Amino acid sequence: MKVLLIGANGQLGTDIPAAWIDHDIVPATRADFDVRDRAAVHAAIGANKPDIILNTSAFHNVDVCEDEPEPAFAVNAIGALNLADACREHNATLVHLSTDYVFSGRAGRAYTETDAPDPANVYGATKAAGEQLIRQRLDRHYIVRGSGLFGVAGAAGKGGNFIETMLRLGREGKPITVVADQTLSPTSTADLALKLRELVATDQFGTYHVTGSGETSWHDFAAAIFEECGLSPQLSPTTTAAFGAKALRPEYSVLANDALATVGIAPMRHWRDALRDYLALKGHISPVATGR
Ligand SMILES: NC(=O)c1ccc[n+]([C@@H]2O[C@H](COP(=O)([O-])OP(=O)(O)OC[C@H]3O[C@@H](n4cnc5c(N)ncnc54)[C@H](OP(=O)(O)O)[C@@H]3O)[C@@H](O)[C@H]2O)c1
Repeated sequence: MKVLLIGANGQLGTDIPAAWIDHDIVPATRADFDVRDRAAVHAAIGANKPDIILNTSAFHNVDVCEDEPEPAFAVNAIGALNLADACREHNATLVHLSTDYVFSGRAGRAYTETDAPDPANVYGATKAAGEQLIRQRLDRHYIVRGSGLFGVAGAAGKGGNFIETMLRLGREGKPITVVADQTLSPTSTADLALKLRELVATDQFGTYHVTGSGETSWHDFAAAIFEECGLSPQLSPTTTAAFGAKALRPEYSVLANDALATVGIAPMRHWRDALRDYLALKGHISPVATGR
């Protein structure tokens, strides 16, 4: 299968080629075309004639989205619409990445794929709009919601990832305060890339939650990172209210990976096993055998 990979230099994008080894990957970066540019999207897809478009692009600095809703909407919603329309015109399948932030986190339980989105911030609203526009325009889609992604490349759109930020702060020796009242399922992009490949082999189009197994708060995630690396910085929990970030974030955005099970795909391994592999790959700890 020929796959046009959008966001090829991003955190998830860089992990796709190794996981999709049996596919012909055509990498596309923003320098090749911008997903907001409808004509450029149609031209690129017409010229490359991919079987699958894998869209990892996003405007996803959550706090910046609050101040800049227009570019956020343009990339996350209009970009998705442009890709869906081009897929329909060229008979291609769209694999589109979305987020746990389409949910407010107020349900107090894990969200399933049948729950209606109720985003609490601009970023989540633009991603929910992108999802909905895809569903309206294109049957041949996989909408895949991830959560707290971490990969060796670090998120281009966020200037790194949580693990590297924590390790930098930990090594600086200053006190670190992390929110303890937001719970998620951290997700390795290397593992996610493998699950995406399994998913597209099913031909069972629809919406899927694909996250690491288990759950943790950001504070406990930080504590696990330090424990694995043998660091003991001064780490304290705080609340979302006290931290005072611009955008509201979900309190409990764990995603039940129910749809994945219905198509016979095994759950992803526990986030902590994936964390160990990540730390080893980045040279923060000695290599470990955790299995995938
Ligand atoms: N990171 C997370 O914690 C997280 C959590 C849940 C879901 N997600 C979703 O997962 C997906 C992948 O995230 P990631 O962490 O891999 O993101 P990333 O590292 O920021 O990669 C996104 C890529 O998209 C490209 N891009 C941005 N705007 C574009 C545009 N207008 N046209 C074309 N390309 C554009 C970026 O290129 P430039 O560098 O040139 O801008 C970047 O290479 C996103 O859809 C995101 O919403 C992420």
